[in-house]
Amino acid sequence: MAGLIPQGFIDDLLGRTDIVEVVGARLKLKKTGKNYSALCPFHNEKSPSFSVSPDKQFYYCFGCGAGGNALSFVMDFERLDFPEAVEDLAKQAGVEVQREERSDRRQSSTPRKDSPLYALLEQAAAYYRQQLRQHPKKQRAVSYLKQRGLTGHIAKTYDIGLAPPGWNNVIAHLSRDSSEEKALIEAGLVVENEDSGKRYDRFRDRIMFPIRDSRGRVIGFGGRVLGDDKPKYLNSPETPVFHKGQELYGLYEAKQQNRQLDDILVVEGYMDVIALAQHGVTNAVATLGTATSEDHLKRLFRLVHSVTFCFDGDKAGKQAAWRALNSALPVLEDGRHVRFLFLPDGQDPDSMVREEGQLAFQQRINEQAQPLTEYLLSYLSKEANPSSLEGKAHLAALALPLINKVPGSLLRRLLRQSLAQITGMDLDKVTSEERNPAPSPAAETTPPQEQHDAPPHWDDDWQPAMDDYQPSYEPSAPAPAPRKPGRKEKKGVDSPLLQATRTLLHHPHLAGLAQQANELAGEDEDEARLLVALLDAAQKNQGLSTIELLARWHGTALGEQLSRLAEQEWLLNNPSDNLEQQFFDTINRLSAEQTERHIDKLLAKSANEPLSIEEKQQLRDLYRRQRAPKTDR
Ligand code: UTP
Ligand code: MN
Repeated sequence: MAGLIPQGFIDDLLGRTDIVEVVGARLKLKKTGKNYSALCPFHNEKSPSFSVSPDKQFYYCFGCGAGGNALSFVMDFERLDFPEAVEDLAKQAGVEVQREERSDRRQSSTPRKDSPLYALLEQAAAYYRQQLRQHPKKQRAVSYLKQRGLTGHIAKTYDIGLAPPGWNNVIAHLSRDSSEEKALIEAGLVVENEDSGKRYDRFRDRIMFPIRDSRGRVIGFGGRVLGDDKPKYLNSPETPVFHKGQELYGLYEAKQQNRQLDDILVVEGYMDVIALAQHGVTNAVATLGTATSEDHLKRLFRLVHSVTFCFDGDKAGKQAAWRALNSALPVLEDGRHVRFLFLPDGQDPDSMVREEGQLAFQQRINEQAQPLTEYLLSYLSKEANPSSLEGKAHLAALALPLINKVPGSLLRRLLRQSLAQITGMDLDKVTSEERNPAPSPAAETTPPQEQHDAPPHWDDDWQPAMDDYQPSYEPSAPAPAPRKPGRKEKKGVDSPLLQATRTLLHHPHLAGLAQQANELAGEDEDEARLLVALLDAAQKNQGLSTIELLARWHGTALGEQLSRLAEQEWLLNNPSDNLEQQFFDTINRLSAEQTERHIDKLLAKSANEPLSIEEKQQLRDLYRRQRAPKTDR
């Protein structure tokens, strides 16, 4: 069924669902006071730090930081995407999932689920597969695959096929008229010459590797030449169903071959994936000739908690690894692990596993793969040699912006600890920007070369490494830091804006008593915008619960911020009457600031030109508003 799931349906579904039941069906829960606890399914532990709150309809793990609502639990536990998780919960609740037709407003490049291209691509895969078995010239291809060490069994698992020599095999077999040929063009299987209009098969005389999406549908192909011709690999072009930068070759097959995937190995080539599987390493995937992106990693971390990159030991491999590291940092929640394995020069995973076999290869991963922390610091240490004082400062300057991209607070702390150890610096004094990371764009892909100046305030902070570095593992231990002017608060303590947002999240009914959100529009600060957006949603949808409000933003950056805020409140468990007053004070302050800005603008205008009658009236109203008593309970 195509179409979006209406938000109202999701609200309603979450309203009918009890998280205790959803989690309890999958984990052994123990009642502990108001909440339930269990061994966390998202990381390894011996004593339970996973907690479920029936009141808040949340779960949270104190060990790894995993947390969310019933939907996110089902997504993460069952490894489903959002619509699949909705289906699952709906089935439990005995309701049918509603879909709405996509409106023009929401036109996106995502195809409708029933795009005819899927069926066509599946037919093409079947055709290529059949040709590998039946074509009169199949022998050359079969010998090639055999010579590369592949058995018929693995060829079947990866559905390897053959595009026979010739310019119109696919056209002849898969289309009956011009309109069907057009569909083949859209699917990327047939090419139309721009000048002559002649149509011909894109893939000719190549070994064919179908690329499947994570649900197993064929979305494109890679085709390898049998000899040394160029290009070695030809890939499907971008089509409505194939987006090269997002897909991972072999992911579906890895899921098929493993009941439980714990670690995924990311390699560079089709043949690496297949050769590894041939030798029993069935958890490898490959990007399709592109760099590993944040999207790729997000996708992988929905399935597993550990990702190992396996690159060649040459310069290109090191470059690819550093790019992968940069893509990984922003998705590194606590409990997620990234490692890097570099193979000896001249080897790729295919040649390596053929040479040494499964056990030695797996041992190599276990013994030689470097954890991200280690790799990051050793890579940068080559750039900024920390044997001198200046080198240490330089290293910290390169590393800190990268470390600050990591969302997992434990992981971030670990990285800072390692950096402190290497540099002998008290990093807590170096920077208090942790909450508002401002990564330097230069550090994104390659470390800056000329940044030899130490950041400010360091001079008097040279101290022995671990002396006053406290390995405290409290996720948000407040640290003393100089108060800065303005709204930004020191770390560990939320700003009044965030505090007010959290209060509203937990008491959505307050929205009805507050100033209209649309009168507060025009805020340009992120935290203020978050509060106003939440206020707006709560006012437009009176009666929504916390969880229903959160569900509106599920899967978005805003939603993550809100969930985090909501969870903190639950952790603190600190209900206070002052919070309501604080909420109204904050709204009033925003409103006052807004009024002031508006007045300033009109006054500035009046200095240059006479104000219109409406504007004068506006100004009077604004002054009146400024003097009027504030909204309160
Ligand atoms: P490799 O050349 O490392 O691939 O390129 P491979 O799988 O090891 O190749 P062989 O068969 O063992 O020689 C890595 C990846 O880069 C993309 C493909 O996705 C390939 O798997 N690539 C490479 C192309 O798209 N086109 C090319 O011409 C070469
Ligand atoms: Mn290779």
